Amino acid sequence: MTAYLNGQFLPIEEAKISPLDRGFLFGDGAYEVIPVYSRRPFRIDEHLQRLQTTLDGIRLTNPYTIEVWRALVERIVAENDLDDQSVYIQVTRGADDKREQAFPVGVAPTVFIFTAALVTPSATQRAAGIAVLSALDNRWLRCDLKTVALLANVLLRQQAIDAGCVEMIMLRDGYLTEGAASNIFVVKDGVLLAPPKDHRILPGITYDVVLELAAKHGMPYVVREISEAELRAADELWMTSSTKEVLPITMLDGKAVGGGRPGPAAQQMYAWYSAFRDDVMRKADA
Ligand code: PDD
Repeated sequence: MTAYLNGQFLPIEEAKISPLDRGFLFGDGAYEVIPVYSRRPFRIDEHLQRLQTTLDGIRLTNPYTIEVWRALVERIVAENDLDDQSVYIQVTRGADDKREQAFPVGVAPTVFIFTAALVTPSATQRAAGIAVLSALDNRWLRCDLKTVALLANVLLRQQAIDAGCVEMIMLRDGYLTEGAASNIFVVKDGVLLAPPKDHRILPGITYDVVLELAAKHGMPYVVREISEAELRAADELWMTSSTKEVLPITMLDGKAVGGGRPGPAAQQMYAWYSAFRDDVMRKADA
């Protein structure tokens, strides 16, 4: 597996960073996960734009232009022997010679890129839907930034896994925010509901694709706050992310969601999503 670290392409086993790296000491960094289908990165410009937004939000100068990022991702994809990949990008505030919270002066950022097989949900998961748990959202108030400080997400996801679930979905002040590593949609009476993209959730690339597809195909949707009562009375719940795509949730806190089976709107949206993705990839080939 070939990775990229600070200007060099090298086997992942040889990629080494300092223990004084601020990503390691403070979680002081930004990341992205870009899905690649048939060696074509999906929505790469949107991912790179979100990386820029995160870097701006944490006051870290982007070390590269969008063109350089695109070329680096393309090279990583080409170097590795997998058609479908999940490319991970991380930029941290680098390694100083001491541990000090305030920004270091004259220290270069650390840039790391690696890739892995893209693991999308199994056919069984897709057919049955998944079980999730809910908990209070105890993360900070800049959840719109994709930073590597993910301890709250890690603990919440593990709590869900320990309970035999796939994802943890979170509530802040009585309203749905998102999943530990996904966005959450609600369907009620034929209307798709999505929480607004503000400081409480990550502006998901898949979230945007879903709302674009709803608009294009005439599925009614509303972006607004979703109360806990509405979450629990949903006809359908979906989780979305770059690796899970659009995945139906059929169990919430041990109770069936809607009829306890993936609903028609989820199946419709997944069909639109797959067709759209395949179409984009075909056009990229042309
Ligand atoms: N996670 N919300 C959170 C907290 C996330 O971590 C993610 C993605 C999403 C969905 O965003 P997108 O559709 O752009 O993938 C929402 C990635 C996949 C991860 O951390 O592995």
